[in-house]
Amino acid sequence: MRARIAVLAGDGVGPEVTAEAVRVLERVAARFGHEFAFVECLVGGAGIDAAGDPLPARTRAQVADADAVLLGAVGGPRWSDPSAPVRPEQGLLALRAAMKVFANLRPVTTRDALVDAAPLRPELLRGVDVLFVRELTGGLYFGEKTLAPGPDGETATDLCSYTTGEIERVARVAGRLARTRGRRVTSVDKANVLETSRLWRRTVTRVMRDEFPDVVLEHALVDSFAMQLLRAPASYDVVVTENLFGDILTDEAAVLAGSIGLLPSASLGLPRADGRTPGLYEPIHGSAPDIAGTGKANPVGAILSAAMLLRHSLDAEQEASAVEQAVRTVLEDGWRTPDLLLSGRGPACTTAELGAEICRRL
Ligand code: IPM
Ligand code: MG
Repeated sequence: MRARIAVLAGDGVGPEVTAEAVRVLERVAARFGHEFAFVECLVGGAGIDAAGDPLPARTRAQVADADAVLLGAVGGPRWSDPSAPVRPEQGLLALRAAMKVFANLRPVTTRDALVDAAPLRPELLRGVDVLFVRELTGGLYFGEKTLAPGPDGETATDLCSYTTGEIERVARVAGRLARTRGRRVTSVDKANVLETSRLWRRTVTRVMRDEFPDVVLEHALVDSFAMQLLRAPASYDVVVTENLFGDILTDEAAVLAGSIGLLPSASLGLPRADGRTPGLYEPIHGSAPDIAGTGKANPVGAILSAAMLLRHSLDAEQEASAVEQAVRTVLEDGWRTPDLLLSGRGPACTTAELGAEICRRL
């Protein structure tokens, strides 16, 4: 198979972790006889520095031409002045919108070898396997924003809107994925307060009833779900929710896995005419400027994102599983970046050492 993969390393630890993910993909290509062409492009603060734009035109063009996009992270203190005219995060949001990747898959699993690394009691963590499906191109993130002088200082607004169609298509993604797993979907909203949430709840209910009668649907209010997620995390299968709730809940869920550095994500759109599904793949962690360049970043989130790229955009299930299996055995054998070590316990390995060890097992 041939594929063109755009690599948008971005800022902070982004370049270090994507380098390991690319190394793993190169190893997969060699072992399974594929040809992957990697095209490096600028995004985020790196784009602002080089071209004054967090999503430069050349990057847009390369992304449109690629079969999949691998992204590192964007942002950092250098570009975070709240009065700055452009911010790195705008590049990521513009990229999600341009690629029309409305469904963001964020799997969160616990591994027995790592229950120590999480601050919760081990008995709560056993068997946790939750797949979040976060709506990614609607809601507050993309609604009209205003800031104007008002009678009480200034007035700022962020408009939250959802259409039936936007809700239907992400509900279908959740339903289809639930069929490949435990056949249960929890839809999270704030229907006791928000009109968008009432439309969300009605629409998800209808789609699941009409199209996925074999999948069990339950609804949860976001505040109580946030609590239940820590009380009984193993009781969830697929969780579907709107953009902002998904942003917050998936960082909360990262605590279950032991480190946010372990978690991958896939952002998917509708299949193209050629049958391939455009996808944006990125670890869910941020740019971690405090450890950038020190070799301390955990590359597993980026490497598992590469596995999701193989599965969802290149239809290479066997290859994806091989990468996941290599990650599993490396962690079981005790390889740990510093984020996975309880303070003062055991020697840590570097980003590159962990990446190389995963490649060695492929
Ligand atoms: C994420 C991040 C982004 C988001 C930021 C960087 C814009 O937090 O992918 O979860 O809020 O979506
Ligand atoms: Mg986030």
